Amino acid sequence: MATTGFFNHRPHHLLFSSIILFVLPCIAYSIAEPEALLKLKESFKNVEALNSWTPDTTPCARNTQWAGLICANGIVTGLRLGGMGLAGEIDTKALAEIKGLRTMSFVNNNFSGPMPEFNTLGPVKGLYLSGNQFTGEISSNFFVNMESLRKLWLSDNKFTGNIPPSLATIPNLLELHLEDNGFSGSIPVINQSTLVSLNMSNNKLEGEVPASMLKFKASSFAGNAGLCGGNLGKECAKPEPPPVTSTTPNDTKNNGGNGSNSKGNGGSSKVVVRGVSSFGSGAGCSHRPVFREVEAERG
Ligand SMILES: *[C@@H]1O[C@H](CO)[C@@H](O)[C@H](O)[C@H]1NC(C)=O
Ligand SMILES: *[C@@H]1O[C@H](CO)[C@@H](O)[C@H](O)[C@H]1NC(C)=O
Ligand SMILES: *[C@@H]1O[C@H](CO)[C@@H](O)[C@H](O)[C@H]1NC(C)=O
Ligand SMILES: *[C@@H]1O[C@H](CO)[C@@H](O)[C@H](O)[C@H]1NC(C)=O
Ligand SMILES: *[C@@H]1O[C@H](CO)[C@@H](O)[C@H](O)[C@H]1NC(C)=O
Repeated sequence: MATTGFFNHRPHHLLFSSIILFVLPCIAYSIAEPEALLKLKESFKNVEALNSWTPDTTPCARNTQWAGLICANGIVTGLRLGGMGLAGEIDTKALAEIKGLRTMSFVNNNFSGPMPEFNTLGPVKGLYLSGNQFTGEISSNFFVNMESLRKLWLSDNKFTGNIPPSLATIPNLLELHLEDNGFSGSIPVINQSTLVSLNMSNNKLEGEVPASMLKFKASSFAGNAGLCGGNLGKECAKPEPPPVTSTTPNDTKNNGGNGSNSKGNGGSSKVVVRGVSSFGSGAGCSHRPVFREVEAERG
């Protein structure tokens, strides 16, 4: 009653409404976050370690902060859920609601299933999934939009298929650890100048280690029976010489020039059969059963 002048006083009025404008989004924001975390917890099994995650408390509260959270200015910026005996799957839709999230560690738990869709979240800087039971292939373009990623640890899981070439598109990648999985095929060139720590050992990789990746230690590539080159102590088989073209017929000196094999000397009578070699084993290798046609080169 005594303050009747308050709303008539223009400067105060302006100040008051601008405070409301700034505060409202923050309130809506902090309401969504606890719900998202509880939804995430629901996707986990064996959650005893997360007993502090309850609806009647606040995640980043000073004295009762929930286990495994990294908070900054009252919002969650990181999850540190390593070695908590957790299992099940990781609900990335719930994670996407935690807008301040930048680093996530789920290491040394029993999480399973295919690679969760971390590429649908906001800017993720650190992703640590080592020491779980993740399976299957990671799609080749998985990382194209993960431009903020700096540290990626997928080691000691059961991932299969090719190493996704889109890893090469992450501009500031610092650490890449893929060791102790079932990755196969050849190594894509992943040689960002920022990369300081790389490990691909103990997989099923084959072919030559790309020359631009030889700055890494031999132990980064060890334990892949099919890999060769560089410092691995195993030379790559010389590639088959390209077919002799008619423009440089100067390697025939033992023939005395124009030999008698006038039907062309490059082809011999080799028959190359490709295909059917890569029937994936297990559920992860779902797409594209590879049935390439038989190619035959006639001599
Ligand atoms: C994963 O689960 C198995 C049994 O299901 C258990 O023996 C093992 O200790 C668990 N590992 C971790 C890291 O919790
Ligand atoms: C990475 O490799 C590509 C192709 O081999 C090469 O052109 C490029 O200069 C290399 N970059 C670095 C940083 O080594
Ligand atoms: C790569 O990982 C293997 C297996 O975990 C380890 O023995 C090796 O020391 C690691 N090398 C590097 C360079 O990290
Ligand atoms: C074939 O000819 C090229 C030039 O045309 C020459 O550089 C090369 O040494 C020759 N090879 C042999 C085996 O004579
Ligand atoms: C090979 O034979 C052709 C004609 O059949 C002749 O034109 C050519 O000069 C010969 N080349 C050599 C290297 O003897």
